[in-house]
This record gives sequence, C-alpha cells and structure tokens, in this order.
Amino acid sequence: MFWYHKETKHSYDSVRTHPNQLSWEDQPRTYKNYPEHYKKRKIDLENSEESFLYYIAGLTAKKTYPSGEYYLRINPSAGALYPNELYFQARGVEGFEDGIYHFEVSTSSLTLLQPINETEGIEPYLGYQSAMKGYLFLVSAVYYRSSWKYKNRALRYCLLDAGHLLGSIEASGLLRSRSVEMLYNIDRERLNSMFGFEGREWILSGCAMATALPQQKVNAIEFSLPYVEGSGSFEPNTMIEQGYVETMQIRGCKRETKVPQFSYLQPRLKETLFTRRSQRGFEGDAITRTQFEYITEVLRQPIPSDCDEEVSVFMVVNKVLDMPLGLYKAGTYLKYGDFARQAGYLSLEQYSLSTQGAVAFFLTSKAKNYQALYQKAGIIGHRLYVASLYLGIGCSGIGAYYDDEVNAFVGNDEMVLYALAIGK
Ligand SMILES: Cc1cc2nc3c(=O)[nH]c(=O)nc-3n(C[C@H](O)[C@H](O)[C@H](O)COP(=O)(O)O)c2cc1C
Repeated sequence: MFWYHKETKHSYDSVRTHPNQLSWEDQPRTYKNYPEHYKKRKIDLENSEESFLYYIAGLTAKKTYPSGEYYLRINPSAGALYPNELYFQARGVEGFEDGIYHFEVSTSSLTLLQPINETEGIEPYLGYQSAMKGYLFLVSAVYYRSSWKYKNRALRYCLLDAGHLLGSIEASGLLRSRSVEMLYNIDRERLNSMFGFEGREWILSGCAMATALPQQKVNAIEFSLPYVEGSGSFEPNTMIEQGYVETMQIRGCKRETKVPQFSYLQPRLKETLFTRRSQRGFEGDAITRTQFEYITEVLRQPIPSDCDEEVSVFMVVNKVLDMPLGLYKAGTYLKYGDFARQAGYLSLEQYSLSTQGAVAFFLTSKAKNYQALYQKAGIIGHRLYVASLYLGIGCSGIGAYYDDEVNAFVGNDEMVLYALAIGK
C-alpha cells in the first residue's frame, strides 16, 4: 500500500485525538483569477459551444451564512473547497482563437493565456504526436485550498474532486454527443513549470475531447506563464508534496479504449447537471429495483483512459424494493444482512447518509498508479451522482470513513478510496 495512503487513514481514535481545528479567518480563497491585462471574455450561455464549458464547472447556487456568501458549482467538492482549476487548449473550435485558456469560475469567463499555431501545441505533453482538433483539458489542484481543512489527507480530496471534474467534463460532453478520454500519462513536470505554478498548484490529469489530424504533426510548445496565486494564504505540507511528487510518473498502464453507453435524454440531463446538489441527509424511503439496476449499469460502463486502473465497487443495499439486504460487489451477493447501521458508522458516523440512504458505496483499489486510480474513483462517484439525480434520487460523496474498519467489513486489504450514498 502506498505509504501516503497508509499514513492518512482515519480511525475511531485518530479523529478523536487529532480533531481538525480550523481558523476561519485564514480560509484560502477558492478562485484563481488571472490579471485583467489578459484577454478575457464572458461565457455566452446562449452560445452552445460556450455553455458546454459552463456546464462543466460554472456557479449554480448561492448560500448566505453569517460569515459571508458562498457559491456552489456544477461540480461537487469535499467541503465546497474546490481545490481544482480547469485549463484547456482549443484547436479548430468554432468561435475560439486557437490557444490555451483558463476557465475563470468566479466571473464565468475564459482567459486566453497563450495562443498556439498549426505547428505547435500541448499535444506532445499529453502523448500525442499530431494536432488534436477540439479540446484538450488539464485539471490542476491548488492543494492548500483543501489542506487548510483536511490537512495531510487533502491529497486524497484533491484527487477525488479532480475525478469529479473529469466526470463533469464527460457529462457536459454528453450534452453535445462528444466522448472523452482521460489522460494520466502526461508530462506534469514540464506543464507545472510552464504554467508557473511554483509548487503550489499541480497538474493532476488531462482529458481529450478531440480528434487527431494525422497529417498535421505538432511540436511541443514552450511558454512561460507568471505565477498567479490561487488561494490567498498558503502553508506548505511536506507529506502532501512528497505524495504528489512520488506519484507523478505513471508505470505499467493499461489503455481502456471501449466507450461507455449511456441512455440519457439531453434536455433532462441538462436540467440534472444544472440543478445537481449533494443531499445532506436521507429520509429513509426506498428506491426501486429498476432504479438500482439503471444506476449500477451506469457504474459498470468503461471509462476510456490511457491508464485504466482497477477500482472495486462495494454496495450495501439498505432499502431497495424487492432486493435482499446485504453487501454486494459488482452484482454479486457477498453477504446477507442488514448493514445499514454499520455503513453509517463506517462513514465516520454519518448515519443520516449511509444508514438512512437506500444504498451505501465503498470504493477500493490495490492498483499502483495512485493519481490515476484515485481520480477514477472520483469519476465513478460523479457518474453515480449524475445517474441518481437523473432519476430523482439524491446522492452524496463521503470522503471521511474509518479506513481499516471498511476493509474488515468488505473483506479485503486494499486502499479504501471513497464512500458515497444514494437515497431519498
Ligand atoms: C470527494 C467528496 C467528499 C465529500 N464528503 C462529504 C462528507 O463526508 N459528508 C457530507 O455531508 N458531504 C460530503 N461531500 C459533499 C460536499 O460537501 C458538497 O459537494 C459540497 O458542499 C458542495 O455542495 P453541492 O455538492 O451541493 O454542490 C463530499 C463531496 C465530495 C466531492
């Protein structure tokens, strides 16, 4: 097991002996804005090409607390801390100057960071030798936004949230019938340096929504952007930094080329993405077996990727009409019993989610490429949100759980990556 994962387990004792003390005055900012002298333009929601970008990560709701106003987004994020930033290269996209852009969430704008031309682009850093027509996305993390709250465990959250953002790209792509490939075998070191991240922000993954132009060979573009801070305050965390650096190189990957099949109707999917929220607690009503099967079919679909790592999905069935209670893995019945209370306990005693919910999920893996396998868990989590909400069923991600006790419950010694619950 990767040492970082082992060191950042929660247990019944650890959460009591090291409770998180937060100083709210120092909360980092959750937005990154490039200076005004860059060429920026507001996303035009009437233009379907641009609204497709908004449907990945745009602001969709405002919450007002005594401490201020907070905005929620299309994509979920642990603690609403949103550590990830989204960049993309657009080549041959109607209405776009070819170039490298940053998605500025706070103003729903696109910032042109670097123009590109026909002979050069970021393709070679992502493993492509020829020009790619369409979008090449890059997902980064400004890790202090998350480590401010989650301390050493924050690399896990940065990766899960990044997976959700990748899943959000996939979901928005479905609105325009476009497919995606997730990319992990990328030159993080060069990209981090050219983007001027200075060790406070890191590239975690890429995502291609593009087709190759085989006749058009491209060279790796060289540029040097200035550092632009993305969190206000900052405190280095050596464990997280070491965890990232040691997982930058990808080894022994298996490519997944099969494409997923979804049966969403576009208008309803669009509404689902726009209104997506995490459910804060369930009332305890059951879902139907047909709904359960629709959702699990979505989870079984392949995720096209240049480094597909195996992630196991365990399900605790609590309240599904006409289905025996118990623990399941990939459609196979593992043990009979009413584990609702136990699922709630394992999720750091969040009983209103995993006990009251219809189904609780635990994702585990023993694969080697940590960044790829963890982001895959986030993508699966995102597919679970989209499929459930599409059917009018609530969903919540659960990043906090008692790692070793989940292992004992599901009967393996793999890394426990993520928990989720769905229900009514
Ligand atoms: C990786 C991840 C872990 C999460 N963990 C929890 C959790 O343990 N408990 C909880 O109530 N919500 C959890 N959430 C839900 C977030 O709090 C929620 O996404 C965030 O507040 C934004 O709200 P929204 O999803 O409604 O837009 C998690 C979400 C993600 C993506």
